[in-house]
Amino acid sequence: MGDKVDLSKLAARKAAGEKLTMLTAYDFPFARLLDEAGIDLILVGDSLGNVVLGYPDTLPVTMEQMLHHTRAVSRAVQRGLVIGDMPFMSYNVTVPEAITNAGRFIKDAGADIVKLEGGEAVAQTVAAVVRAGIPVCGHLGLTPQTATQLGGYRVQGRTAATAKKIWEDALRLEDAGASMLVLECVPDRVAERISRSLRIPTFGIGAGPGCDGQVLVLHDLLGLGGGEIQPRFVKRFAELAETTLSAVGAYKDEVEAGTYPAVEHCFSIPDHELDKLDEP
Ligand code: KIV
Repeated sequence: MGDKVDLSKLAARKAAGEKLTMLTAYDFPFARLLDEAGIDLILVGDSLGNVVLGYPDTLPVTMEQMLHHTRAVSRAVQRGLVIGDMPFMSYNVTVPEAITNAGRFIKDAGADIVKLEGGEAVAQTVAAVVRAGIPVCGHLGLTPQTATQLGGYRVQGRTAATAKKIWEDALRLEDAGASMLVLECVPDRVAERISRSLRIPTFGIGAGPGCDGQVLVLHDLLGLGGGEIQPRFVKRFAELAETTLSAVGAYKDEVEAGTYPAVEHCFSIPDHELDKLDEP
């Protein structure tokens, strides 16, 4: 495809003030639809854990699970860039292990970029992964893999001191060679200042419109998120849970009433062949 996204085009679009788009996907059919819709970056998030695999949070997600789903997404995406999210403990133990695991996302699973959470603490790892030739997306603010340390799933950077720390971390990651940053649950005016001060694009989720782009969990946007509690930043652009329930309910009713399958859904056999069935 002629308009294949690449990192230099993303940087140029930031410089031109154009907004960028990122969404999560975990499987082939949704990834294909997002790519067809022109979404720039398809993130195989470790939100896989809670969104698709039924875990309470992202912590149990393994490298093998992430690679499996990243492969499916990579097979579908032609225009956008695929980001593989490095799961908890796949980059936090040693730098060589982080490089090896990041490499698996690229070599074995077809991702273009890897994402990892944290600031100063992972800056050396980011630099090493980038030196190995692998583009990195950082993730600051509310970092779900370390939510317990942050006091739970809450907005980060609401005081000058904590906002400054996120800002310093962002600059540190840019210096380390990160190609882009996710800013999650950060006050809008803080995220805007951070975004303006960086050369690399920022993608906000609960971080306001001043970021260079936005990212959402696909299932939240589609109304498939489940659960009554939705974070304030989620906008449901569709109600697919309702649509799915009504379609499945109609299927059940028709099967039970004997009206589905109808003639047009059946395969035929010629009469003379059918007659032979009854012959001894
Ligand atoms: O795992 C994920 O889906 C993410 C997004 C929320 C940015 O990290």
